[in-house]
Formats: sequence, C-alpha cells, structure tokens
Amino acid sequence: MAPITVKKICCIGAGYVGGPTCAVIAVKCPNIQVTIVDLNQARIDAWNSDNLPIYEPGLDEVVKSARGKNLFFSTDVDKGILEADLIFVSVNTPTKKSGIGAGFAADLKFLQLATRRIAEVATSSKIVVEKSTVPCRTADAMRTILEANSKPGCHFDILSNPEFLAEGTAIADLFKPDRVLIGSLQTEQGKDACEALKNVYANWVPKEQILTVGLWSSELSKLAANAMLAQRISSVNALSAICEATGANIDEVAYAVGKDTRVGSKFLKASVGFGGSCFQKDILNLVYLSESLHLPEVAKYWRAVVEMNEHQKERFARKVVDTLFNTITGKKIAILGWAFKKDTGDTRESPSITIANHFLTEKARITVYDPQVTQDQIWLDLTNYGDIPADPIKEHLTICQSAEEACANAEAIVVCTEWDEFKQLDWKKIYAKCPRPAFVFDGRLMLNRKELTDIGFQVITIGTGDRV
Ligand code: UDX
Ligand code: ADP
Repeated sequence: MAPITVKKICCIGAGYVGGPTCAVIAVKCPNIQVTIVDLNQARIDAWNSDNLPIYEPGLDEVVKSARGKNLFFSTDVDKGILEADLIFVSVNTPTKKSGIGAGFAADLKFLQLATRRIAEVATSSKIVVEKSTVPCRTADAMRTILEANSKPGCHFDILSNPEFLAEGTAIADLFKPDRVLIGSLQTEQGKDACEALKNVYANWVPKEQILTVGLWSSELSKLAANAMLAQRISSVNALSAICEATGANIDEVAYAVGKDTRVGSKFLKASVGFGGSCFQKDILNLVYLSESLHLPEVAKYWRAVVEMNEHQKERFARKVVDTLFNTITGKKIAILGWAFKKDTGDTRESPSITIANHFLTEKARITVYDPQVTQDQIWLDLTNYGDIPADPIKEHLTICQSAEEACANAEAIVVCTEWDEFKQLDWKKIYAKCPRPAFVFDGRLMLNRKELTDIGFQVITIGTGDRV
C-alpha cells in the first residue's frame, strides 16, 4: 500500500496548540481542508470572530488569511471526524488532581473521550495523530480504544506528532520549526501513515528537518525536551541564589557559561521561576513514569527541577517581605505582569499566581496589571490556587488598566512578567507617586537598573547581590 494523500484534516481541540498549529497548516497547505473542532461553543465563536480566544503575535493574520477558505472552526465534532482522512487530537491533558498518580500523572480523560468519539463516529479508515503532550505509551492506549470500538472495515493508524511551539512565538516557531517529529509503529502501515503526515509538513518544512522515529521515542522526546529546557532554568535559578549571596551577577555568569558552545546561550535567563502549561506538567509526568518503572533515583533527579522552581518563587516572594522590613501587612504592592511569559495571555502555572497568593497570605494590598490577561482570568487563577476565599481576595486585590495606575502609591513594584512595555514606562512619574523608600523588585532582570537607581528607586533583582 502507498501512503494516502491527505485532503481533509480535523483537529479536535481548539486550544493554544491545536488552534495555531492547524491554522498554520491551512495557510501552508491550500489544497488541504482543515477543520478545527471543540466542544466549547464560546471558544469556537471566538475563533470565528475578530477577537480570537488566544493572544499570539501574528495569529490574527494567519487565521484571517485562511478562515472560510480552507480553514473552519466548528463545534460539530462528529462531522469533522467523519470527513477527515487525518485527525489531530489536541485536547488538554492536565495533571491529575485526584486518584492514582494525583499531582503527577496526566489526566487522560479528555484524550480518551476524544479517542472514543473517533472510534464511535468514523465510518472509514483514519490516521489519528496524538498532538497533546502525553505520557509514554499513550498511543498504545489510544490504539486499544480505537480497535475495541471501531466499525468493521475501519482501520486506524496512530501517530505521535508532539508540538514544540512556545507560546508568544508560536507562529514563528510553526513557520520555521527546528524540527518536526513524527513517531509511528515500525510496520508497513505505520510507516505509510507516517509518510502521509510527513508529506503534509513537507509543504513548508525541509524534509531533512522532519524526523521519523518509533512511537515511544517520539512521546518520550517531547517530555525529555521540556524537562531539559526546564532543567536549564532551574540550574540558572539555583546559581542566582549563590550570586545573591556572593555578589556575583547571574547575567554575567550565564553569559560566560553560555558562550561555551557545548552549553549554548539559550534558556539561561534567570527568573522568578518558570511557568506555562508544559514544563511542570511534563516533568511530573516523567517523575511518575520513572517511579512506575522502579527508578526512584531518576524520579528524584527530575523532581528536583520542579522543587527548585518552587523554591525560586518562594525565595523571591520572601525577599520582598524581608526587604520591606519584614512585614507587608496593609502595604500596597504592585504586581506587573500576570501571564507566565511575555506575548501571551496564558496564565497557566504563572509565577505571579504563587507570588500574589504569598502576598495575600501576608495581608498586603495588591494591585495587578497585565496587558493581555483578562480580569476574570486573574480572579479565577487566585480562587483556584490556594485556600483563600474569594471575598478576602477581592477585598485585598485590585486589577488595574495600566502599569502607572497599579504602581501609584505602591511601596513595592514587583515585575513578574517581562512585557516589553515595562521597559518604556515613565519611571520618573511613577517614582514621584511612590512613598519612600520606593522599591522595585525585578523578577525578570529586564529593567535598566542604573536608570531606576538614578531616579531614586531601590532596585532589587534576582541574581545580583548588591542593592544599589
Ligand atoms: C515550552 C517549550 O519551550 C516548548 O517547546 C513546548 O512545546 C511547550 O513548553 P512555553 O511553555 O510556551 O514552551 O514557553 P517557554 O518559552 O519555554 O517558557 C517557559 C517558562 O520558562 C516561562 O515562564 C519563561 O518565562 C521561563 N523561562 C524561559 C525562563 O525563566 N528563563 C529562560 O531562559 C527561558
Ligand atoms: P493546549 O494548551 O494543550 O492546546 P487547551 O486547554 O488550550 O490545551 O485546549 C484544549 C481544548 O480541547 C479545549 O478548548 C477543550 O475544550 C478541548 N477539548 C477537550 N476535550 C475535547 C473533546 N472530547 N472534544 C472536543 N474538544 C475537546
């Protein structure tokens, strides 16, 4: 049998991964019809409007150029499944909150429901591609579900095709990926399915950058890539603590270390801690996997990357309290940035949430400003996070429309996200409205420390010892 030519793609899950990925496929493959389906009506309505449900630089242009031509958004999941030759499954796989593996293992209920739906609805053979980040061997479980529930004459090939895009740069990453990874069973049929998907990407990605491997290697590679990226950040953050204690400067250390071509310069920026939907989840998955494989030392090793991240957030929050003369009760503290990184409105696992919760526990008065995150999202993040009830949160925290408004009369300004606009603020004007001493805590090492110090601020940054 020869590989099929893919003409119709359905993507189940119109989220941060499925939406941008399949919108780019539509733009790059005008001969393929791409339908992105989701159970969430509001999300689909937003994808069909001028106000897309996610903020991602360049995404509006991509969606506008293909929507209504060969790119469609719909809640009709069954129709999408019926029509497609290839189906991406790109649903959410959060960390389990209860039951076996709670706090570590991925909750695969959404993935399994979507898979079951494919089996129940499909009347012809399909290539089913797992796009969501999943624990190793999930493809096997999907295959069992599909085979146990399929109609006679329907054959399903399973591929793993993890997505490596980073939020904030998703469109650039998708246009020019470092690599595309496709995992398949090493049977004739598996290889044909792999070739069919490879031909889709070959519309814009050089063939030598499309790597084809076994299913489990593909699944593990995604977890491994995220674990190793996160490990770099935890390593540099661990060093930042040493810098603060010794007077060394973490940016200088990271620069010197990164100049070694064996290390490389990327992902060595010390910070208040990493966030995002992937790093913590994937490492915890790896920890769970290691434990299930009776490899406790391996589990302990990866767990330390997450523990260091928790420590970094906690350390930063504590530094604010210590510097404000050991109490922040009743003091006004401005948090600049709520998203987990710049150029996204996504707040999943954002360090700001942990830090704000710490300040709330200390009964500070908090103002928050983020250029992209909605007010509802901020309230949701805080009420879902800890055990502080909604009323005291609303009493102590105000969401502002600008950085200036958030910073007015603040005893401490705490930068948690590296939004470019924070560099351009009128810091003199802000200083004029702050009580003295006026503190800025730079959790992203992004502000011009000298300029702020010259204005009169006391500037405290992660990874530098001396308070200027
Ligand atoms: C990550 C991976 O980069 C991507 O390949 C994968 O597909 C999904 O997970 P993402 O979480 O979107 O992407 O963003 P990323 O740029 O990796 O940043 C993750 C977190 O690490 C952010 O909170 C960011 O601020 C932080 N970070 C990143 C640092 O603190 N220092 C760095 O040097 C780099
Ligand atoms: P990610 O960051 O992995 O893309 P998101 O949470 O942003 O995760 O998106 C996942 C999407 O998948 C959500 O919009 C959710 O409504 C959708 N989804 C989950 N289960 C199903 C399902 N069985 N059928 C269709 N859509 C689903």
